[in-house]
Amino acid sequence: MIYLDNAATAFPKAPGVARAMADCIEHAAGAAGRSFGAFGAGPARIIFETRRRLSELLGWDDPSDIALTSGATYSLNLALYGSLRPGDHVVTTSLEHNSVCRPLTHLRSQGVEVTRVPCPGGRSPDPEAFRTALRPETRLIAMVHASNVSGAILPLREVAQLAKEANVPLLLDASQTAGALPISLRDEKPHLLAFTGHKSLLGPPGTGGLLVAPSLDVAPLCRGGTGSRGFSDEQPTDRPDCFESGTPNLPGIAGLGASTQFLLDQGVANLRAQETRLIDGLLAELRAIPNVVTYGPERAEERTGLVSLNVGDLDPAEVGLRLERDYGIITRCGFHCAPWAHESLGTLHRGAVRLSVSPFTTQEEIDQAARALAEIAASCTR
Ligand SMILES: Cc1ncc(COP(=O)(O)O)c(C=O)c1O
Repeated sequence: MIYLDNAATAFPKAPGVARAMADCIEHAAGAAGRSFGAFGAGPARIIFETRRRLSELLGWDDPSDIALTSGATYSLNLALYGSLRPGDHVVTTSLEHNSVCRPLTHLRSQGVEVTRVPCPGGRSPDPEAFRTALRPETRLIAMVHASNVSGAILPLREVAQLAKEANVPLLLDASQTAGALPISLRDEKPHLLAFTGHKSLLGPPGTGGLLVAPSLDVAPLCRGGTGSRGFSDEQPTDRPDCFESGTPNLPGIAGLGASTQFLLDQGVANLRAQETRLIDGLLAELRAIPNVVTYGPERAEERTGLVSLNVGDLDPAEVGLRLERDYGIITRCGFHCAPWAHESLGTLHRGAVRLSVSPFTTQEEIDQAARALAEIAASCTR
């Protein structure tokens, strides 16, 4: 099997993830923050260490600004519902995933106004378009760091700068970039950054987090036991506890700690260079095939490790099926939970086929995928 659906979820996971999760289940007894002595210390250490590694990977100074969650969907909902009120205005992009589109569509029905910055062809938007969209009542800019459909990397530095100048918080959806692109938040400083553990962080599903700048007021999405201030029936305000109600997913957090350590050891910049080379070659091979259309930025440097495409008039579902059945190649076809992005690409009527790599993808696998697509394309012109 050749697995090219890493933008959905990475496979395989980083070495050490399964072991860390099994060790946690077998040996780390007790509930973090809720048990005493050695019993509680093991789980607390696992959580502390994972938070510390994540903050190192993201280039953020204080690990306690990172709330651990069940994934980017929860984190984005927490950031959006925790920041926006009726009458507020939010600027977002036309490349967002449904974990931003759907909350914003719902919030719109509650009186929040939404402006979408255009991203024609699925390419990165003009940073000036964010400035033009700002209003006195703008309370948030919500921007995906890289599209899960076109792969386009959006202009974080410029948008962070103009958000700072306008004194409007920036929420970055780093689901496709945390662990895939070298990120140093000490320089760029979004106020909120949502990430998921199971994609480019190479960890288990059901993990992720939200980084919340200490200066920002964000209401919790969910209230309950935090293991702290148990004498009170009011939600604590201490961070990150106030965002982490309920018993944490300790095995998942242990696995995420192991995958983050793997990325720190390998160096995200090295892995990024390797993936960029693969995508550069793949784009060249695909562009040479008559009948194949690729979407998004021209150059591999301008995108993450994915390519979306269509073959002639074939239904993307048929292309995906043939790749899997006849060649053992796993891709993702359809709409990728991103209708706004497909609208930007001009593919909302049919969807597309997406191929996405990971640090474990080889050149041979990429060549096989390109050969398979050439054969499928040839068969549909006959
Ligand atoms: C850009 C983007 N944002 C958010 C998400 C949601 O991530 P999760 O399902 O892990 O919560 C995804 C997952 O596909 C994504 O690609």
